Parts: sequence; C-alpha cells; structure tokens
Amino acid sequence: MSEAFEPKNIIVTGGCGFIGSNFVHHVVREHPEVHVTVLDKLTYAGNPENIAGLPEDRVELVVGDICDAELLDRLVPGHDAIVHYAAESHNDNSIADPEPFVQTNVVGTFRLLEACRKYDVRYHHVSTDEVYGDLALDDPARFTEETPYRPSSPYSSSKASSDMLVRAWTRTYGLRATISNCSNNYGPYQHVEKFIPRQITNIIDGIRPKLYGDGKNVRDWIHTEDHSSAVWTILTKGRVGETYLIGADGEKDNITVLRAILKAMGKPEDDFDWVRDRPGHDRRYAIDSTKLRRELGWEPRHTDFESGLEATIAWYREHEDWWRPAKAATEAKYAKQGQ
Ligand code: NAD
Ligand code: DAU
Repeated sequence: MSEAFEPKNIIVTGGCGFIGSNFVHHVVREHPEVHVTVLDKLTYAGNPENIAGLPEDRVELVVGDICDAELLDRLVPGHDAIVHYAAESHNDNSIADPEPFVQTNVVGTFRLLEACRKYDVRYHHVSTDEVYGDLALDDPARFTEETPYRPSSPYSSSKASSDMLVRAWTRTYGLRATISNCSNNYGPYQHVEKFIPRQITNIIDGIRPKLYGDGKNVRDWIHTEDHSSAVWTILTKGRVGETYLIGADGEKDNITVLRAILKAMGKPEDDFDWVRDRPGHDRRYAIDSTKLRRELGWEPRHTDFESGLEATIAWYREHEDWWRPAKAATEAKYAKQGQ
C-alpha cells in the first residue's frame, strides 16, 4: 500500500530549468495549499523568466548552489520535502567538459541528502532512463525498475552515481526518499541545445537542422507536463525507498522526429545536414512504466506527439525573446565540435 504524504512547504531545486519550472507551475496550479521555494544557481540553463509571474506568496526564488552546505543549513529547516531537479543535464556538454557534472550531479546530490538526513526532510530524486544504458534497435525489451545500471556518458554516469547515493542513504540512514527515472522530455522552455528546440530554432533562423550519426537512434518522448504530474504522484503516493520509471510509450527514431518538425514547419523532409555522431551515442531508450501506472494510478495525458510537437513549435515561434539570447553561443559551441 502507498503511504499518503501531504507536503505543504517544498524546496524545488533547479526550478528555473526546463522541467523543474514546469513542475513549479504544475504545483502552483494544481495544489493551492503548497508553498514552493525554488533553489537554483541560474547556470546557463536556468532562467528566472521560466517562473516569472507566479504569485509571490506561493513561490520564492533563492539563487544559490546545491553544493553549498551552509546555504542548505539555513534553507532546509522548516521545509517538509525537497524535490531535486537541479543538474547539469546535457550529454554533449558532459563529453566536452565532465567536471561540472560530477560536482553538481554527484556532490550536489550528496549535500542535499546530508541536509535531508540532518533535518529529517522527505526527498524525491529526479533521474533519467539513461542510467540503464541503451537497448538494441531490434530488442523487444524495455527498461524496468529491475534493469541493471549501465550508464554510457559522463552525464548518465553522474546521474547513476547520484541514484546510488540516494539508495544508500535510504537503506543506511532510513532517509525517506523516492527516485524516478524518466525518458526524454519535450515541450516549451527547453534549452536550444537540446534536439527538438535546436532544430525548430535552426529552421526559424534559416539554418539547416543537424542530425547525428545515421539518425536511427531512438528516444522515448514524453511531454514535460506528464513528467510533472508523475513526479507529484510519486512524491505524494509513492512508497518510500522505491524507484518508479516514468514514460509515455513515445518511442521514435531521431530522423522521424526531425521529419515531423520539417513537415510541420513547411520544409522539405530532406532539408537537413548529417553531422558527426556523438561519441558513445546510446542507441535506444524505452521505458516500461507499468509499476507507476498500476501501483499509483498515474496515466500520461499528452500522448498525441504530433499535436504536442506543433504546440511546441508554435511556442518557440512566439517566444523568440526567450530563446534568442542563448542561440548564437549554443551554435558556436556545436560548430567547434563539428556538430
Ligand atoms: P536544465 O538543464 O534545463 O535545468 C537545470 C537547472 O538546474 C537549471 O535551472 C540550472 O540553473 C540548475 N542548476 C544547475 N546546477 C545547479 C547547482 N549546482 N545548484 C543549483 N541549481 C543548479 O535541465 P532539465 O532538462 O530541466 O532536467 C532537470 C532534471 O531532470 C535533471 O536532473 C535531469 O537529469 C532530469 N531529467 C531530464 C530529462 C530531459 O529530457 N531533459 C529526462 C529525465 C530526467
Ligand atoms: O533520456 C533522458 C535524457 O534525455 C535526459 O536525461 C537528458 O537530460 C536529456 O538531455 C536527454 O538526453 P539526450 O541525449 O537523449 O537528448 P538530446 O536532446 O541531447 O538528444 C536527443 C537525440 O537527438 C540524441 O539521440 C542525439 C540526437 N541529436 C541531438 C542534437 C542536439 C541530433 O541528432 N542532433 C542534434 O543536434
């Protein structure tokens, strides 16, 4: 049986990023009894605009680093849960410079776990399906909670390390924690370094989209709204000590996604460049989310990928002021990598 948990005063780390900010909006909209403290360092990926306009009596932004133990000592007491999204999140960046990934994703998680232990605060750890490595294209299997860890990149190995810390703190210290591992998210407010927004904004800018390798790599897409509802469900109804996989049966190969973007934006389907593959590029991710659905009754609501993609394209067309400041530097970085 699930244990009901009714948080009133939560910290959301990384709440100015793509997925964390969606969760903050979700909580403010759906759970009026909850106050949110966002703890965010505002790295290149964090933007306070993502949570601008939310009521001040519901959401407070604290700019700071999750690795800062003294800050956590001041901030954590009085809160009843931490939902941990903050991370260095981009695989290509981790290949170019792994150090911030170890620092934020591993050391940062360690600091949060220590603070939760000290002040007896509930903890939810937001992680990724990439900890399980990859599957072959012709393998009928999907990842489950029992799949062994086999991460490939500096990013995914740092996330796997952080998951292991959570498991150890739960078992050894009795920390009240849950873990979720989700597949690839899409939707508004995603940084232009990521696959879908990069191609949409390239097309808007008259740059040909860039496809890695042979374009057959498969990702299991989920709308970020569905990720947020799943995390809330696990936080409030999930069993302490358990891991839940989050996915919405959205497997597609990259070339199919790219052609859908080109079509929706009125371009010929071969109007893109093949570029250098990502070193160690995972072939396929696929999530079996049966445990989350059966045990906690969660279901995704945004399962029509084409209409979700069209809405996302419309959002980027209408919010050029949001993504424009990051675009040139992001493309300059990719150009140096031959991508
Ligand atoms: P993002 O890069 O868009 O945002 C990360 C946020 O964390 C930013 O606001 C950044 O400023 C903040 N941050 C980074 N380092 C920090 C530090 N040391 N202290 C405080 N704040 C810091 O990332 P995202 O795509 O929104 O991913 C959020 C979480 O979800 C990550 O933990 C990621 O591993 C996980 N996840 C992402 C996906 C996906 O498809 N993007 C899928 C599954 C899981
Ligand atoms: O699976 C969950 C993970 O999904 C999260 O943990 C990560 O934080 C998130 O970044 C994402 O990782 P990916 O590496 O799968 O996402 P990305 O958007 O970087 O790339 C998606 C696919 O598209 C991947 O196969 C690489 C490919 N790609 C990417 C870019 C940026 C291209 O072909 N061209 C590109 O320009």
